[in-house]
Amino acid sequence: MKTVFSFLLLVIISHDSKCAKILGVFPVPARSHYILGNSLMKGLAEGGHEVTIIAPFVDKNLPKNGSYKQIELTEVAEEHERRRKEMKMFDMDDMNPIVFITFVLDWITAFTEHTLKSSKVQKLLKSGEKFDVVIIEQFMNDAHKGFATHFDAPMILLSTIGANIWVNMLVANPAPTSYVPDALLSFSSQMTFSERLTNTAYNVFSYLLFHLYGFPKQAKIYDQYFPNGVPFYGALYNASIVLLNSHFSTSHPVPYVPNMIDIGGFHIQPSKKLPQDLQKFLDGSKEGVIYFSLGSNFRSSELPPKKLEAFLNTFAKTKMKILWKWEEDVLPGQPKNVKLGKWLPQQDILAHPNVKVFVTHGGLLSTTETIYHGVPVLAVPIAADQRLNARRIVKDGFGLCVDYKEISEEALTQKLRELLNNPRYARNAKKRSKLFHDRLVGPMETAVYWVEYVIRHGGASHLKVAGVDLPWYKYMLLDVGVCILTTLAFSLYVLYKITKTIFSLCSKSKVQKMKHS
Ligand SMILES: *[C@@H]1O[C@H](CO)[C@@H](O)[C@H](O)[C@H]1NC(C)=O
Ligand SMILES: *[C@@H]1O[C@H](CO)[C@@H](O)[C@H](O)[C@H]1NC(C)=O
Repeated sequence: MKTVFSFLLLVIISHDSKCAKILGVFPVPARSHYILGNSLMKGLAEGGHEVTIIAPFVDKNLPKNGSYKQIELTEVAEEHERRRKEMKMFDMDDMNPIVFITFVLDWITAFTEHTLKSSKVQKLLKSGEKFDVVIIEQFMNDAHKGFATHFDAPMILLSTIGANIWVNMLVANPAPTSYVPDALLSFSSQMTFSERLTNTAYNVFSYLLFHLYGFPKQAKIYDQYFPNGVPFYGALYNASIVLLNSHFSTSHPVPYVPNMIDIGGFHIQPSKKLPQDLQKFLDGSKEGVIYFSLGSNFRSSELPPKKLEAFLNTFAKTKMKILWKWEEDVLPGQPKNVKLGKWLPQQDILAHPNVKVFVTHGGLLSTTETIYHGVPVLAVPIAADQRLNARRIVKDGFGLCVDYKEISEEALTQKLRELLNNPRYARNAKKRSKLFHDRLVGPMETAVYWVEYVIRHGGASHLKVAGVDLPWYKYMLLDVGVCILTTLAFSLYVLYKITKTIFSLCSKSKVQKMKHS
């Protein structure tokens, strides 16, 4: 009796989401991705859970509650930094989307493998530790789904750029190419005929690229590092839920299957006090401040001289103050109204009422943060999903765009002037911000709730749509289409035959009649 009782107790405890053991795998060696993964895992630790995170960076600011173990992949971060320095990041603006996605896939294959090779990761895999759930960033690093099968735990995916083809494919989410633009194309949701044609062709291309090139590569890595019996393609389509870094206030409204959950904005913290010098600078700039940052991957200090000069001249002319994220010690020809910072607390800066415009590359984090704080935007998109975001910013009326290719003193000056003089942009930014904040519960609470939900139920296969298990030709109803077409063709043929026979009979009898008369 006692053993039965303690067994029951054990079952109850192991299925309780209070203080669960959670593994997070966030291997993408780019700061913006880490910020998202780390925020989610810290949010879960604050909720009292025991968290382990595998990532290329570490955070010295530990959560107050729960426990937080960091497995830092220094070597992956260093390798990325080496590659980043080797290539000219700003040349990426010229890459067409086909070259870009192929290039990204190869980069991902490299860090997927580097992560698994790491001695620290190998040690964890061999440690015999148990986890109640494994959360993995979904960034085409599909071999990492082996972490879930290895620890025999339900799998949650976090998509750092919201719903797109490499998430939709895994959960059979419908994304009609007639109105859902691909993340790497610069279309809005209202597409012209030629845009729809390009969007559809690019989608088919991506689909084939993943199935014929990306997945087989990942499968090979998976088979090498997780020879545990669960086949790669079984693990690939087995996500319990997908957490999406998006929200309809920051992205196009699109359809979601029931296991896709919007948590866009979850990384945003309540505003903190600014460092003293920044506080003084922003408080003292009654004429208004333009905040300029190209994010963490694109560094303004690496801008080609012509583009840099365009920014310098534009800023030198304005009466406003400029706060500029500049990654070097000195900026040659720094105008008097410009203050530099190698690293700037962006969220807290955007929260300051004197910040009037944010000049940004239009990355998703920056876009989300500016919407949160209702600050109008001048987007200078360079690559990746930035053109898509810029297009939406312009369409939603809270900003303007100067494409990286078109950066010049005239273009920047003219757009900045329009942004500052026409109150409609600030008004629309405030309106967006209201849409962003109007939710039943905050995005972090939503995220924590759903992670605990998956733990409580030992997975969430009941949320999966049956489409996941259909082969593509059944999903697209090609078999049904072929059946309908064949039936139709056959019926037409029979009809034709019957008509022909009747005709010939008729004409025969006519001829006979004529003969008889
Ligand atoms: C800390 O975690 C426990 C669960 O282990 C929870 O009950 C408590 O509310 C958490 N404290 C805070 C301050 O969030
Ligand atoms: C899929 O996930 C569920 C829930 O975690 C698990 O029970 C099942 O074994 C997994 N299937 C595969 C093929 O990994």
